[in-house]
Amino acid sequence: MLSEYRTLFDARGARYNAANRLYPDARAEEARRILARVPLRAGALWLDVGAGGGFLGTRAEQARAEQAPGAAAVGCDESAVFLGDAGGYAMRTVAAFDRLPFAPGSFDAAASLAALHHAEEPRAAIAEMLRVVREGGRVAVGDVAAGSAAAGFLNEFVNAHTGSGHRGRFYRPDDWVGLLTAAGGRGAEASAELVHWRFASAGDAARFCRELFGLDPDTREDSLEAALDGLGGFARDGGWLLPWEMVFASAAP
Ligand SMILES: C[S@@+](CC[C@H](N)C(=O)[O-])C[C@H]1O[C@@H](n2cnc3c(N)ncnc32)[C@H](O)[C@@H]1O
Repeated sequence: MLSEYRTLFDARGARYNAANRLYPDARAEEARRILARVPLRAGALWLDVGAGGGFLGTRAEQARAEQAPGAAAVGCDESAVFLGDAGGYAMRTVAAFDRLPFAPGSFDAAASLAALHHAEEPRAAIAEMLRVVREGGRVAVGDVAAGSAAAGFLNEFVNAHTGSGHRGRFYRPDDWVGLLTAAGGRGAEASAELVHWRFASAGDAARFCRELFGLDPDTREDSLEAALDGLGGFARDGGWLLPWEMVFASAAP
């Protein structure tokens, strides 16, 4: 079954991907954190679930070139528009979270970044990730933390300034451990981690957010700046940092 968000994502994909291309290092920290949870050996094959425009695949390619030569990824996403820009994968597949078109044990690992807050049935999505990873592999997720300023920004400011709105389902570390365990995962762990999105200036941060979240063109610059101030954005070492509180979690199949 395709999700209630399908149309929304097809409409948003091009701007979201353009934002990640314009500022390829802005979200580098969250990519590093989730990739650290899916250690790969040379030649390994991993699955990116809710791959979008391939942000994680591209970051992984760079990180793995030395540590795991020959490692390759498959990207899957419900939106062909998002996935159309995703170049860093050995293969791309249009598929919904809860019906991954792969045989059991097809991958050495599976990861999902900033995507499962759109899952109507997160346990079903995680059960699918666990099913397609072989014994001895690892499943990892990273998403915005429930109750955080980032969650409020998404479900309030972004919700109010986009035609389609934003109604993310966010979770705390204990919730993720519960979901991973209930889906059949073993040795589940999760932690809340503060990451920072990094820019050269506050103006760049505003431009990135405007495109990434597909804000309505009439969204005023001063209200966006106020919202980013509300998130605690600050200048440091000639750059500008936006705090973004996330939860990273993992389990073995
Ligand atoms: C915020 S984007 C994150 C993309 C990418 N992981 C990243 O970190 O840049 C969320 C992605 O989840 C996908 N998505 C939403 N609901 C989905 C579903 N039910 N099944 C598969 N993908 C879905 C969207 O199409 C979108 O590409």
